[in-house]
Amino acid sequence: MTKLLDGNLLAQKIRNEISRIIEKEMLNKNERIPHLGIILTGNNSSSITYVNNKIKECKNIGIQYSLIHLPINSSEEELLEEIKKMNQNPYIDGFIVQLPLEKHMNQDKIILSINPKKDVDGFHPENFGKMALDMNAFFPATALGILTLLERYKIEISGKYIVIIGRSRIVGKPTSLLMSRKSNPGNGTVTLTHSKTKNIEYYTKQADIIIVAVGIPGFLKGKMIKEGAIVVDVGIHNYEKKILGDVDFYSVNGKASYLTPVPGGIGPMTRVMLLKNTLIAALNNR
Ligand code: GUN
Repeated sequence: MTKLLDGNLLAQKIRNEISRIIEKEMLNKNERIPHLGIILTGNNSSSITYVNNKIKECKNIGIQYSLIHLPINSSEEELLEEIKKMNQNPYIDGFIVQLPLEKHMNQDKIILSINPKKDVDGFHPENFGKMALDMNAFFPATALGILTLLERYKIEISGKYIVIIGRSRIVGKPTSLLMSRKSNPGNGTVTLTHSKTKNIEYYTKQADIIIVAVGIPGFLKGKMIKEGAIVVDVGIHNYEKKILGDVDFYSVNGKASYLTPVPGGIGPMTRVMLLKNTLIAALNNR
């Protein structure tokens, strides 16, 4: 029997925890509530949906937000100017620049211009480097969402063999670092596989935990995993009016011991972790 890891339920629990901290530490002390800045560029429909979901999440929890939406033909200089304003605004505790950016923008230059103390995405090299060095920092929300989901369901990572499929900066790479850190949660033995890995099945068949963030609907099939593996699906795709993940649910369900559903698995966990980072930024900013 496969048990589904309910991200919706857990995200709601964490929302309540965040709201309680805001009430106790801020509202009851007549201090201002956390404030998240969001910079969105262009008209990418997925990015607009993601940003709208982040705003909804802010409203649900009781976090203030400011949205700057730059038109599609904005220059890199205009974006850098908005980042500078967010960096300097003492009322913005943390902010994000929604990715991907338009082709004429240099993503590395943009990320480097964000003040690491306000980088609640955890994408700035200062935060990413600290994460790699087992230091405290802002960690990327999806990686944190995966770790938190496993931790709260009491699924041990320490000593387990973990295979990650996909080496993106947003998911695969940070998740590989956090799961192998000398810390709790952590201490996993991680293999990071990607599009140039030969015979991915060789690795997935041995894995205790498989994280799939490859961006291909139904990529991981039941025949690629061992009986009782734990499978985390980070993908989300609209396919013929259905929402599908990177895992072929029908062949993995029944063979895995635990599986995250799509939707309702890692998605809500990711959104709530961004707000947890914003709360931490606001507490640091007192
Ligand atoms: N695009 C897709 N996921 C993310 C994310 O977590 N943060 C930002 N800034 N952009 C994204």
